[in-house]
Amino acid sequence: MNIGTSGNVVLRKLTKEDISDLAKHANNVKVSINLRDGFPKPYTIENAESFIEMANSQNQTTIFAIEYKGNYVGNISLMMGADVYRKSAEIGYFIGEPFWNKGIATQAVNLITEFGFKELNIVRIQTGIFDYNKSSQRVLEKCGFTKEGIFQKAIYKNGGIYDEIRYAKLKNNLEMHGDIMSN
Ligand SMILES: CC(C)(COP(=O)(O)OP(=O)(O)OC[C@H]1O[C@@H](n2cnc3c(N)ncnc32)[C@H](O)[C@@H]1OP(=O)(O)O)[C@@H](O)C(=O)NCCC(=O)NCCS
Repeated sequence: MNIGTSGNVVLRKLTKEDISDLAKHANNVKVSINLRDGFPKPYTIENAESFIEMANSQNQTTIFAIEYKGNYVGNISLMMGADVYRKSAEIGYFIGEPFWNKGIATQAVNLITEFGFKELNIVRIQTGIFDYNKSSQRVLEKCGFTKEGIFQKAIYKNGGIYDEIRYAKLKNNLEMHGDIMSN
């Protein structure tokens, strides 16, 4: 299942064929340093297998492979909020280091944002980025996300304290009004 194509970038479901490339690209401290500690380090073949199994057991798929020129190069996801946050989702993504700075994340974020607003009945997509991750901040700015604020000293990563930069993009239409919005 493809959910969108933009230039050389395709978002599609993860498959078992992605296991070795996922493990290869994810097993990199330059990737994990920008992600939560729940992201395995080292990232093994077994981690990749169980991640892909989990992604493929979702009722509504919100975790996708990013393909560039026919190659698996990374993942992107929307994690749905719960309770009063159920009209919001958190975006997350990573690209394998050999493929950085080719515009891939920018195209992937645009594709999943369009998918989220069209298919998931959400009105807000958000995330927090560690202060030192300038590349990811630039990606979200290129994709029209708004820098909403700084959560000072919110992040404790690898023994250091860092600010978290919060970004969001809103669905921009009438469905956002509470009086015409259902569950
Ligand atoms: C962040 C990440 C997803 C970016 O992916 P990418 O495909 O290289 O992104 P793009 O090529 O679309 O855009 C990167 C932009 O950041 C810029 N950039 C890169 N390094 C930078 C730096 N140190 N300072 C400022 N800008 C930087 C690039 O020049 C480019 O902007 P431009 O198009 O204006 O030149 C990728 O580096 C990655 O996976 N990092 C590790 C995991 C991660 O950080 N995930 C996101 C967690 S919030």
